[in-house]
Order: sequence, then structure tokens, then C-alpha cells
Amino acid sequence: MEKKYRIVTYGCQMNVHESEKIAGLLHGMGYRETKEDAEADIIVFNTCCIRENAENHAFGNIGALKKLKRRKPGLIVAVGGCMTQEKGKAELLREKFPFIDIIFGALNLERLPELIERRLKERRKVVEVREKEGEIVEGEEPFRTSYPNAWVNIMYGCNNFCSYCVVPYVRGRERSRKPEHILAEVKKLVAEGYKEITLLGQNVDSYGSDGTTGMRFAELLDAVASVEGKFRLRFMTSHPKDFGKEVIDVMEKHRKICRLVHLPVQSGSDRILKAMNRRYTSGKYLEEVEMLKSRFPEAEVTTDIIVGFPGETEEDYLATESLVKAADFASAFTFVYSPRAGTKAAEMEDKVPPEVQKDRIVRLVELVNSLTRRKSEAYVGRTVEILCEDYDEKKGLYLGRDEFGRMGYFASETNRIGDFVKLKIERANGISLFGVPAEKAGGASPVTD
Ligand code: SAH
Ligand code: SF4
Ligand code: F3S
Repeated sequence: MEKKYRIVTYGCQMNVHESEKIAGLLHGMGYRETKEDAEADIIVFNTCCIRENAENHAFGNIGALKKLKRRKPGLIVAVGGCMTQEKGKAELLREKFPFIDIIFGALNLERLPELIERRLKERRKVVEVREKEGEIVEGEEPFRTSYPNAWVNIMYGCNNFCSYCVVPYVRGRERSRKPEHILAEVKKLVAEGYKEITLLGQNVDSYGSDGTTGMRFAELLDAVASVEGKFRLRFMTSHPKDFGKEVIDVMEKHRKICRLVHLPVQSGSDRILKAMNRRYTSGKYLEEVEMLKSRFPEAEVTTDIIVGFPGETEEDYLATESLVKAADFASAFTFVYSPRAGTKAAEMEDKVPPEVQKDRIVRLVELVNSLTRRKSEAYVGRTVEILCEDYDEKKGLYLGRDEFGRMGYFASETNRIGDFVKLKIERANGISLFGVPAEKAGGASPVTD
């Protein structure tokens, strides 16, 4: 009988893509995917530790497997990802959940097949977490699950040490993939029919800054955008301390680079930005937004914001509100600060009480939603090009995103997944848009060509 795997993923896009790599390795061993725990021969948790609730979520779901594992002792439970890279976490996992069979690291996920073989042969628990980053492993074939979108790593790790952030500790130092590997992967994806490529790195602007690639990010972006074919190109994440003219110039050269930049600001208060070790001011941030929007009037910016960082006063928080209004974000991910062991901020005094954090996050979410809603309403009556990426069973509608990441729904008799569809927007509901394909609506002229 066919062996089945199930992968449970937490965390960022990087992890989602790494789950595709894990899936590729499991396919290579003859496993096929199932969405049901009960059908699985192996369940892999690809964990995240960016905030405490991400960890609690994983702990809860791993713990919930205890019964199934008792019923089905042959089931292999494997835990990998960022959490296992944290100091002391692998031991804690073993203690808390003795039924875990394999613990592996985010820095050595390519070892999983061998660890599985070992577990099957020796019937002993296997723990192998690589502590320090090694050479980049090339040649893995991810099992992609997100057609027509594809993610491509351009670099791994982070050197920025923002004072709240655990990523540099669990993902190691920055290292960049060679341009020839990236370009070969993108060309292959475009030839296979992928329509949207997102270049991934914790801080894409630092690409090649160690001098090992012979190219900086702007040059790489230029080279990738020069690959022939109709596809959209995105990149994530930019860092305000580095983002600027070079990249914007390349964007101007290539229409296939989406006019949407994800530029995490974290706070609008210069005092807090300093304590966060972000190395830019709110003034510099707004200048960058202005530079982008003056070059492309349609451009949009999305962001990440943390409230309740140690020492954040009401005045600091209000500075964040002012910045949100001035930057006029298309949307924002908003987080309550979560102390992470080993980071500088975890040692800082003057913690913000939970009730104050809660009050600020509620106010901020309301502000961000009001911007997003207003932008959605402005879509009504316009025609936009979306890339159809899925079918929503519940709604009975196809869906896709426009260049700015806005979700548009529409009805269709035929499967449109992977098509660029011109959609005349008739209605907006919060962040979602509903429309009719323009060919049906009488061929209104597209605005995004
Ligand atoms: N490399 C990206 C994203 C890192 S993680 C960047 O530099 O922005 C994604 C987001 O999680 C961050 O932008 C930040 O807003 C949030 N985050 C990171 N650590 C956090 C913490 N300890 N508490 C709350 N939010 C955090
Ligand atoms: Fe974390 Fe800062 Fe690196 Fe982003 S740039 S991963 S927030 S340390
Ligand atoms: Fe991503 Fe979470 Fe790791 S945000 S890099 S999966 S800690």
C-alpha cells in the first residue's frame, strides 16, 4: 500500500516553501500526501518560533497526536523547523512529548530521508539538529503545491539582529544562493507554466552583500525580470534601512515586477525604532514610500507593525498611528510584542502591561482595517487583472490576486486557475473584491496593462 505523509506548517512564507521541499524529499521516498492525520504514516511538523503563540499552537497540535500514536505505533511523528533550532527546545520537546520519533532542524531539513530510514531500521528516537548554518544545499526538487505561484529562495539567514527577533539565532548568518542557480530555477518554473514568482529572503536587499555572488539584489532582480515569458515577479522581504533607488530603478525597467513592496516598518517612533535596532528613522521610511509612490502613482506598500515593545509609551504608539496614516498602507500585519529568550529586547525593562498592549493592538487593527476598506471600495467599477489561483468550494467562486495582492472572486463555468483574468469589480466586502470577467462584462479596458 502507498505510504502517506502529512505536513503541518507554521510561520512565514519561507517555512511554507520549506514544507514544499520536505514534501519533495518525502515524494522521493515514495510517500504521497494526505490531509488526514489518521491516514498518515508520517506526520511532519514544520514549526515557527517568531512569537510565543506560534509555539503554543505547535505544542498544542503535537500534543493532540498522543492518542493517535498510541493507536497506531507505526506512525512516525517528526518535528522540524525554527522551534527545534532554539536553544534547549529539542530537549524540551523530547521531555514533553516522548512519542516524537524524529527531531530535525531547519538548518538540516535535507537530512530528513536519512533520519526516517534510521528510525525505521533502528527503532530508536532520532534527534539531529544542526547548530550552525552550513553550505547551501542545491538540487532539491520541491513538491510545489501553490500553482500558479512559486516561491524561490534567494538567500537564507539574517544578520540584522533586530532586538526583538529570534530569526538570526535560529536561522544563522546570511548566505546567498548563486545567481545561476536562482536563474535556472526561475527559467524552469516559467517554462513549466508558473505565472507568479516570489523571490524570498529575510532581507532581500542584503543579497550578495558578502561578495560571494558577484551581484547585488538590484542586479539579480534585473536578471530575473529579464527571463522571457508572461509572469509576475515579487520579492519579500525588503528592509527599510537598505531599500531604495536602485531597486526602484529596476522596477521601472520591468513591468512584470509588481508595484507592491512589503516594507516592514515595525514602529513609527524613532525612539522605539532605535531600541529595536532597526537602523532607520520614521522620516527615512516615509521618504522611501514617497520615492516609490512618486515613481509609480499606482504603487502600494504593505507592512508589519509591532505594538507594546518594551518602553513604548502612548506617545510612541500614536507616532505609529501617524505613520500608518502618512504611509497609507494597503494592508498591514500587526503583532503584539512577544519576548523571545536570548534576544536583547527580552532583557529590557519597562515591559508594557498586557492590557495596554491589547488596547493598542485593537486600535491599530481598526485603523489598518479602515485604510484597507477604503482602498477596497475604490476598486468598485474598475477593471483589474487578477491571476486566478484557486477555487473556493464554499463560495463556489474562483479567486485570484491582483498585482497589489488584493483578492478578487468571480464565477466561471470553466477552470481558470493559472489564467490572468480581467475582472470588472462590482462589489467590495472588507478586503475581498467580487467581480465579473471583463470578457463577460463587455470588455472594459484593463488598468494594469
Ligand atoms: N525579515 C522580515 C520578517 C521577519 S518575521 C523583516 O525583517 O521584517 C515577520 C514579522 O514578525 C516581523 O516583521 C515583525 O513584525 C514580527 N515579529 C518578529 N519578532 C517578533 C516578536 N518577538 N514579537 C512580535 N512580533 C515579532
Ligand atoms: Fe528578524 Fe530583523 Fe532579521 Fe527581519 S531583519 S528576520 S525582523 S532580525
Ligand atoms: Fe519564519 Fe517563524 Fe522561522 S517566521 S523564519 S518560520 S521563526
